[in-house]
Amino acid sequence: MKFISQLKRSHYCGEIDRRNENQNVVLMGWVNTRRDHGGLVFIDLRDRSGLVQVVLNPNQEACKAAKDTRGEFVVAIEGKVRVRPEGMRNPNLKTGEIEIVGERIEILSEARTVPFEPGDEKVSETLRLKYRYLDLRSPRLQAHLMKRHEVMMAVREGLHSKGFIEIETPILYKSTPEGARDYLVPSRVNPGMFYALPQSPQTLKQLLMIGGIDKYFQIARCFRDEDLRADRQPEFSQIDVEMSFVDRDDVMKVAEDLMRYVWQKIKGVDIGDLPVMTYTEAMNRFGCDKPDLRIAWELKDLTEKLRDSSFKTFSDVAGRGGSIKGLFVPAQFSRGQIDKLTEKAKQMGAKGLAYIKVDEKNQISSPIAKFFDENELREIYTACGGAKSGSVFIVADDFAATCAALSTLRLHLAHELGAVDTSRDRFLWVVDFPLLEYSPEEKRWVACHHPFTAPKDENLAALVQKDESEFPRLKAKAYDLVCNGHEIAGGSIRIHRGETQKAMFDALGLTEDEIQLKFGFFIEALTYGTPPHGGIAWGLDRLVMILCGTDAIREVIAFPKTAKATDLMADAPSPVSREQLIELGIRLIER
Ligand code: AMO
Ligand code: AMP
Repeated sequence: MKFISQLKRSHYCGEIDRRNENQNVVLMGWVNTRRDHGGLVFIDLRDRSGLVQVVLNPNQEACKAAKDTRGEFVVAIEGKVRVRPEGMRNPNLKTGEIEIVGERIEILSEARTVPFEPGDEKVSETLRLKYRYLDLRSPRLQAHLMKRHEVMMAVREGLHSKGFIEIETPILYKSTPEGARDYLVPSRVNPGMFYALPQSPQTLKQLLMIGGIDKYFQIARCFRDEDLRADRQPEFSQIDVEMSFVDRDDVMKVAEDLMRYVWQKIKGVDIGDLPVMTYTEAMNRFGCDKPDLRIAWELKDLTEKLRDSSFKTFSDVAGRGGSIKGLFVPAQFSRGQIDKLTEKAKQMGAKGLAYIKVDEKNQISSPIAKFFDENELREIYTACGGAKSGSVFIVADDFAATCAALSTLRLHLAHELGAVDTSRDRFLWVVDFPLLEYSPEEKRWVACHHPFTAPKDENLAALVQKDESEFPRLKAKAYDLVCNGHEIAGGSIRIHRGETQKAMFDALGLTEDEIQLKFGFFIEALTYGTPPHGGIAWGLDRLVMILCGTDAIREVIAFPKTAKATDLMADAPSPVSREQLIELGIRLIER
């Protein structure tokens, strides 16, 4: 008699149903649970397709063997498919109509007692990340990775069908500025020299356009040493796209079609035509450049209305070019709650948070009531869209602080009050971003998207002439794709002339030497016949996150890193030997 392990697996556990009645099957997988019931032994056997119940009758050799198994043992089972009697069926299980009557069982590998059961979300994430391979056995993570694979397949199909070709670009490369710090790799054969891991393949994909590739894409790994958040990882994947002889609308069309294809394939949903909004409009209406349109609430501008107010805070802010905005929320809040919201607004840089409350009895109250008569208060309340009862929150500050505080409240309260319409995904294009912004820390202008982004045609002259007084008003040929409040993709039409690119670096405060050292090769390449070109890149992980309906990027990456950029499973980063350092010519300094 052959060992079962010498037989071929005939089915995946989760794929057996009524149609397999009376068939002999050979299954291989993990013991999810084992239950002993008056002589009978039940094993729920698990593989990546799901679970199936195996029942072993007493007094059988197989039953004895089954009793030796525990959770997470790997076993092979041969048996016959039986339709469960009425009343014994499990409607919560895909295979709940049938069970396998086990005839033989063989333990392929034993398992020590596991630190937690796969999928047990009650244990700490630290423990789950240390034993990531165990957590990966959970149906949740398996489904996420399966979906990620399907998205990648759909992306490849979608772009291939439009004539894009997938090309790999180097990981050991040179600094590509995307606003984060670089991860550096020392070169042994060139002592004292370092590669930088790409923050994105930005210059490389532009060089491919110069190389005549015309339409490129890549599912590219990117590396950024930056502060991590729920939707940021130090290494992540982009769906990176670049095309030649195109303008903004061509790139947006390709991107939109790809999203339509992916949503259709993955969710079976038609996303329709995507709305387009300028950066300025998004900031004015929602206080942020990636508004979550699943929330209906909007900010209202009160600057003109309150310019001559006797509340000095308001008139001062309006007088010095600041901004006063209000947000209506259809709910009442206690003193304590308002204190917490005020704290939140202050964390976002606001100096205070005023409010006007109207209760069910139409009583109006406000901490700024002493500066306004009741009619004026009601007028402000109504101007903010105030309905019968509810609260209007008001912030007066610099435009950026006002927007940041109220958009944070908008998101926070909408989630608290269940005012997010999760019945469908809401996309939005944001266009006409500023080209440059001033960085007070660095005391120089920085590119809002990246330094390869072209200014709008009418703004080119001010850039080339380095007219700094105009810099705050310059707009870029840049666009972001937003979905449910996440920036899922960003791109731009590029500068395709060497001298303009040089002018851009000059505007960003790079010296002639720095420009040569860092980007000389690139500027030179632009001078040998460069097609006008542009592109876009999606955060693949964020895209999959949305399609999986999760808020954590770690949930859709097989081996993610912690918020401190560490891998708890393999213990990376880790020290290296003295010999390795000597070979690289590196001496560590104490800090
Ligand atoms: P950008 O820097 O906007 O553009 O990045 C494109 C998209 O990548 C995702 N993303 C991230 N995802 C996870 N973790 C991170 N740390 C992270 N950083 C960015 C976002 C973002 O929209 N080269 C340009 C693209 C171009 O101009 O074509 C670029 O990288 O979803
Ligand atoms: P005060 O007169 O300073 O006690 O402020 C009266 C109310 O206005 C309080 O509720 C403050 O939180 C609020 N407030 C103070 N500064 C601002 C501001 N810059 N924007 C909005 N509200 C403010």
